[in-house]
Amino acid sequence: MCGIVGYIGQKQATPFLIEGLTKLEYRGYDSAGIAVYDGENIRVEKSVGRLSALTDKIAQDEPKGSLGIGHTRWATHGRPSDLNAHPHSDCTGDFVVVHNGIIENYLPLKEELIANGHIFHSETDTEVVAHLLESLYDGDFEAAVRAVLSKVEGSYSLVFMSKKHPDMLICAKRENPLVVGLGDKENFIASDIPAIIGRTRRTYILGDGEIAIVRADGVTITNKKGEPIAKKVFTVNWNAEAAEKGGYEHFMLKEIHEQPKAVKDTMRERIKKDGSEIQLNELNWNTKFLSSFNKIYIVACGTAYHAGLVGKFYIEKLSRMLVEVDVASEFRYRNPIVDKNTLVIVVSQSGETSDTLAALKESKRLGAKTLALTNVVGSSIAREADYVLYTWAGPEIAVASTKAYTTQLILFFMLALYMAEIKNTLQPSRIKELITLLKRIPAQISETLTDVEPIKTFAKRYGFNEDVFYIGRSLDYDVALEGSLKLKEVSYIHAEAYSAGELKHGTLALIVEGVPVIALATQKSVYEKTLSNIKEVKARDAVVIGIAAEGDEELSKYVDHVMYVPETDELLIPLLTVVPLQLLAYYAAITRGCDVDKPRNLAKSVTVE
Ligand code: AGP
Repeated sequence: MCGIVGYIGQKQATPFLIEGLTKLEYRGYDSAGIAVYDGENIRVEKSVGRLSALTDKIAQDEPKGSLGIGHTRWATHGRPSDLNAHPHSDCTGDFVVVHNGIIENYLPLKEELIANGHIFHSETDTEVVAHLLESLYDGDFEAAVRAVLSKVEGSYSLVFMSKKHPDMLICAKRENPLVVGLGDKENFIASDIPAIIGRTRRTYILGDGEIAIVRADGVTITNKKGEPIAKKVFTVNWNAEAAEKGGYEHFMLKEIHEQPKAVKDTMRERIKKDGSEIQLNELNWNTKFLSSFNKIYIVACGTAYHAGLVGKFYIEKLSRMLVEVDVASEFRYRNPIVDKNTLVIVVSQSGETSDTLAALKESKRLGAKTLALTNVVGSSIAREADYVLYTWAGPEIAVASTKAYTTQLILFFMLALYMAEIKNTLQPSRIKELITLLKRIPAQISETLTDVEPIKTFAKRYGFNEDVFYIGRSLDYDVALEGSLKLKEVSYIHAEAYSAGELKHGTLALIVEGVPVIALATQKSVYEKTLSNIKEVKARDAVVIGIAAEGDEELSKYVDHVMYVPETDELLIPLLTVVPLQLLAYYAAITRGCDVDKPRNLAKSVTVE
């Protein structure tokens, strides 16, 4: 999720480019760059690190010109570096592009371009677009851009600039946001409204497949065939702060709603086109490699630890390899039984959690092979691990982790399937069936997000309770742990999750009349057992909110309320049941007037012990 800006008009471009990138830094901040046409050439300035590194670099000699584009990066392909920073140029420097998204077929395109003599300088998928434009250009800039778009696959918002055509910028989008700001003899392009709201509130919100030809005195919108599209002007009435949150009141709510796209992006390129198998090119493991391990540890903290519990279930169930899960702050000090026959998987959204990083280093010292699941390219944990699998969730700003959790689950599911393929522990038909169900998850998460009113009602009705219990068995228990953490950390309600079968061993003493109990009952294999535990708490007059799969007609007979999630394989349903729990935590925090995005005592990344 990167930040993109563009300017064409009568004024100097650089001030707007920097101002716009500053407003978009929340979209990505591992490197930044601008390109400005000075009347003869396009000058490109870029720098790894925060935007301030770039502004320091150009402070004494700002690029001059009234046509320019800029970019602040959230790396997906190619680690953060000066060379990988955008904008990217072709061989001649005549064409420059900035990009947000993932070009899924960049490797074959790059190989073909190299074979035709193109010289590349970066590891990014984006640079391929610049060289592709150069190779397809025959004097008509618009036609060349359309030809490029017909060849690239994946998600993108792209802005193209050419010194051969300094009277225009061309931009296009597919599955990633892009807006055109309409000024007076000047026009603006940006990934998101915050970048332009200080200059204009009149915008075109580009739709998938639309192309904008942006000149100083006007904007033409066409489809991919070049046919003009009549576009309505969208007048922005948000304030600047609301605009950064995409119109949502808090980053947490925005990120909950970003989960369908985050999950879809994390699956990109990792499922074979025919849906027959998972392909994790970042690993390239084989039978010999996996057979060398007699144990797997999953080590993490907080929400990442909860994702690890689900990961254990997946890996053991699908690939039949023994997995132990531990919190990093315990693992690192208990002299764990780790050696060269151990695979240690660490999970960390930020890639900077000190306990997790320390556990990773300790594992390597003891001879283990290590794999990191993280959301930040080039983070300390990513650099330290032998192997890395990235979630492509985009920056997660809210302290309460939501889209990182669901994308970690997706990665674990794909990893477990990948390992099952290598070890032949699953029939190909079962793998194909699970992949088919996996591909439906983004749409099913969207479904769980359509009607939040019942959850708001529960939050209002039970939001002032001081104790809430979450119960479930098997994967439902693992999700209950995550749901209770969400409620605790944003609403400050004392929430506890218990394995439903554990209640009678003590906790039941706390279940009295009116205590809210969130009961997850989606795991068919233990459904009857869970039902009996629900009856236990109902017999003590608890208020029970059940979470069930659509089509379950039993649960509603025994609970006070039921929230349904779409039906899918019980292995995948945690990706759906966690969503109402995230929303419940969010709305309970709102009910209690808590600081949702920055809860007391907490930090987004715990980089100290
Ligand atoms: C989760 O909502 C919390 N913010 C916290 O538990 C977090 O998951 C934990 O600190 C681990 O962070 P990491 O994934 O960046 O390592």
